[in-house]
Parts: sequence; C-alpha cells; structure tokens
Amino acid sequence: LVAPEAIFGAGRVNARGFDLSDARVIEEIEAARSVSLPDAAPITVSAPSGETHPVLNPATGEAVGWVVEADAATVARALDDARPWGAAPAERAAVLRRAADLYEANYGLIFATLAREAGKSWGDAVGELREAVDFLRYYAREGEAATAPARGLIAAISPWNFPLAIFTGQIAAALMAGNGVLAKPAEPTPMIAAIAVRLMHEAGVPASALQLLPGPGRVVGAAITSDPRIKGVVFTGSTETAQTIARTMAANLAPGTPLIAETGGLNAMIVDTTALPEQAVRDVVASAFRSAGQRCSALRCLYVQEDVAPHLIEMIKGAMEEQALGDPWDLATDIGPVIDARAKAGIEGYIAAHADWVMHRVAAPAAGTFVAPTLLKVRGIEDLEREIFGPVLHLATYKAGEIDKVVARINARGFGLTFGLHTRIDQRVQDVAEAIHAGNIYVNRNQIGAVVGSQPFGGEGLSGTGPKAGGPLYLARFFAAPEQAAGE
Ligand code: NAD
Ligand code: ALA
Repeated sequence: LVAPEAIFGAGRVNARGFDLSDARVIEEIEAARSVSLPDAAPITVSAPSGETHPVLNPATGEAVGWVVEADAATVARALDDARPWGAAPAERAAVLRRAADLYEANYGLIFATLAREAGKSWGDAVGELREAVDFLRYYAREGEAATAPARGLIAAISPWNFPLAIFTGQIAAALMAGNGVLAKPAEPTPMIAAIAVRLMHEAGVPASALQLLPGPGRVVGAAITSDPRIKGVVFTGSTETAQTIARTMAANLAPGTPLIAETGGLNAMIVDTTALPEQAVRDVVASAFRSAGQRCSALRCLYVQEDVAPHLIEMIKGAMEEQALGDPWDLATDIGPVIDARAKAGIEGYIAAHADWVMHRVAAPAAGTFVAPTLLKVRGIEDLEREIFGPVLHLATYKAGEIDKVVARINARGFGLTFGLHTRIDQRVQDVAEAIHAGNIYVNRNQIGAVVGSQPFGGEGLSGTGPKAGGPLYLARFFAAPEQAAGE
C-alpha cells in the first residue's frame, strides 16, 4: 500500500475530497473498502455495566456492532478514576501528534466505520478524517508552549453528524490544556468514538485522563454535567440540549464553570443578479444536500433575487437530479442515508405537513433511511419552524433593493452560524458582511467544510457561545482562569 498521503497529499484533493482520476487514490480506496468490521464485536467502556445495544447501519438497518452503554454506576466509577493529565505541555503535544499519525495509519478502519455506522459517503469520510487529524495537530501546536494550569476534569459531549472530527476536536483541546476528559459520544455512533479513544490511548494518553462513556444523553450526559468534580463542559449538538445542559450546570456546578456550546442554525444564502449562475447552483446544492443536509453549517434558506429566480430554480432542479443517492460504500454515491429511522420520519413528516410548498423532489432508494433532496418554496426565513436536519432546502425570492430587509429578517431569527453570499459587487460584500449576524461568512463559494486553523468555526446567538473551534482563542478556554488557578 502507498502511504495515506496519497489521499491527503496536496494537489490530490478536490471538492469531493479526493481525485478519482488518480490511480493511486483508487488503489487506496479499494484497500480501505476491503476492511471488514468485526461482526458483533462489543465496544466496551472502561468499567462496563449497562445495557447492550446493537449499532445499526443507517443504509441497511443491519447491526454492524454492539455497544455496552454506561449506566449510572459506570459513570460514578469513571468520575472516581478520572485524573487531569499531569504531563508537561511538550509531551502532551507529542502524544497528540502521535495520535494524529495513528489516525492516518488506520484510515481504512476509520473510513469503514464512518460509512457503515454513520452513513458517511467517501468524500465526507475523507474530509472528516482530515479534520480530526487537523484538530489534533493544530491544538498540539497551539498549546505546546502553554504555561497556564489545567482546569481539572472536562465533560465532552458530541453529536453523531461529525462523530470523529468533533469528538476528537473537543477531546484534543481539553487534553492539550492538561485536563482529564470524560467523553460522551452520541448514541448512534459509539464505535468510531471507541476507535478514536483506543488510538489516543495507544498514542500515550493515560486511561485516567480519557474515559469513554457511551450512553443516553439523559443518563450519561446529565450525570457528567451535574457532578461538581466537573470543571468545564464542551458540547456540540442541538440548541435545545445546550439549554438543558446550561440549566443543569447552573443548578449543580460551581458558579463560573464554563460551557462551550456549538449548536444549530437556520443558515441562509443570498444570490443576486450579478452572481455566476453555474457557480451559485453548484454551491447551493453542495451547501444544502451534501452529507444529506446533516451539517450544522448546511444551507437551510436560499434567497434569490426575483429577476434571476426562474432560471436559477430550473438549474437547481437539474442539479438535484444529478445527485446520486445510495450506499455510502459505493464510490459513485453523492448522498448517503440520514442517521436513523426516527430522523427520516421527522424530516418526511415536516415535508408532508408542507406539501403545498414542494417545488421539487428527486427519487430516493426505498430501503434504508434515505430522504430525497427536497426544494420548498417559502415567503421568507420566518416560515421555517425550526432547523430541519436533513436534505431540505427552502427558497424565497426578493426584489432589487431589498437586501437590507432580507438581512434583517435573517438576523431576526436569532441564530448566527453560517451565511453565504453570491455577488460580484464588492461594496455589497462589505455591507452585508458587516450587517449579518453569523460566525462564518462565505462569499462566492459553498458554506460548509470550515478548515481547522484557517477558518475557525462557530456561531453566535442561538448558534453557540464561542470561542470558535479550530481557532486561536479556543484552547485558552480549557485552561484555568487566573482566579481559579490562584485559589487552588
Ligand atoms: P443532540 O443535541 O440531540 O445531542 C448531542 C449530544 O448531547 C448527544 O451526545 C446526546 O446524547 C447528548 N445529550 C442529549 N441530552 C442530553 C442531556 N440532557 N444532557 C447532556 N447531554 C445530552 O444533537 P444531535 O442530534 O446529536 O446533533 C445534531 C445537532 O447538532 C444539530 O442541531 C446540529 O446543528 C448540531 N451541530 C452543531 C455543530 C456546530 O459546530 N455548531 C456541529 C455539528 C452539529
Ligand atoms: N465544521 C463543519 C462545517 O463547516 C460543521 O461544515
């Protein structure tokens, strides 16, 4: 086999994550496809006691593994055993870099698990592994010269839609600051989390400094966010869960205990008459439908200037027809399944309840949890009831001269994660970028896939607390505040 650089090396990565015309890349991918996941191999936690559940492949409904979920007794033991990581910053950085190397070396197992457990297409799996590796190396570099003390124990709670990248990023930052971490992955994706923790332990992170606690949010999540030994919580997930955690922390933890929360969004894009139609359509389709719309950054509401709307809508419909839905394991697949049957039922229920809005739907496989990419016509962003976490794009039109009003309507929703703008007018870029409330603003490109270190990612308002992940301010939040350090 050639080295993983065949996939990750400069010049070989295109918008889909890899270059299918490169024979060596194909060879690598074929090798990764031959990795077989152990059937019925239990994922064990550090002190397992709790219910055993199958882990399901969303594309087929078949069990691809088993998880022993933590119960209250397991969480209690993990808290008793947990210790901050005493190693010096330079050693911590070296261990995280070793973990990054191990992630890359195990790319086959990682891709296989992301595809089968989380329904990730190949392009998404490659991007996710790259982001996870970037987090490890970036925080290692940012923290190796640090002198501040750790906070203590950190609870890290992550979502299923980036079950490796976000899971790793939270842990890497907390560990790099010298903390001990209790890591709770999302219910549908414990296997990739177990692989990540195993590789971090193999790299040299002590077992007492990193413990994996798979299990339900209302049991494991609630327990670790209410134990006074926890000195900080890092969370990524829905806005509602973040609000629940904030209330739990306020009632149980010391005042001032930090909560870093990255949550959802009602992300918008504006396309005016000066935009290049082909480019805008390509970016709209990628932003709304890639990853089956299961990205917090995904485009939910597109505003098109009415003068170009008929033409653009026809092009969007055509581009939707070109999307290949199917088995994530198939290289030709653009869009895989949504995460589970419950998610599918929720999205389909929303579409059915708004049947009069439907402008276009494409065909989707009947078996598995596939949802057909769907275009809905709305009057404006105020028609969106909530974040629909799937391949559903709402479209509204606006009249020339109304951009200020559109921006005000977007801001009025109170979220502020990503925003896209397609225009050739420089002054408009400046004016809109100043007025819009959004953590990440993308001009004349798609609005997903922020790159660690160069595009720090995070929102404002209902979309998150900051600091942005993969940015220079993030790590500082995991060190003890001066007053905490002085009091210890
Ligand atoms: P979720 O809020 O349902 O769950 C997230 C995590 O919180 C899971 O591990 C869950 O078990 C846990 N949890 C649930 N209840 C809890 C409780 N009471 N106490 C503690 N933990 C609890 O979110 P999800 O469905 O896993 O992920 C999708 C959501 O995440 C979307 O809203 C998406 O926009 C958001 N998201 C945001 C970002 C970002 O960076 N802003 C990135 C990815 C996903
Ligand atoms: N960081 C991810 C993105 O930008 C969520 O799409």
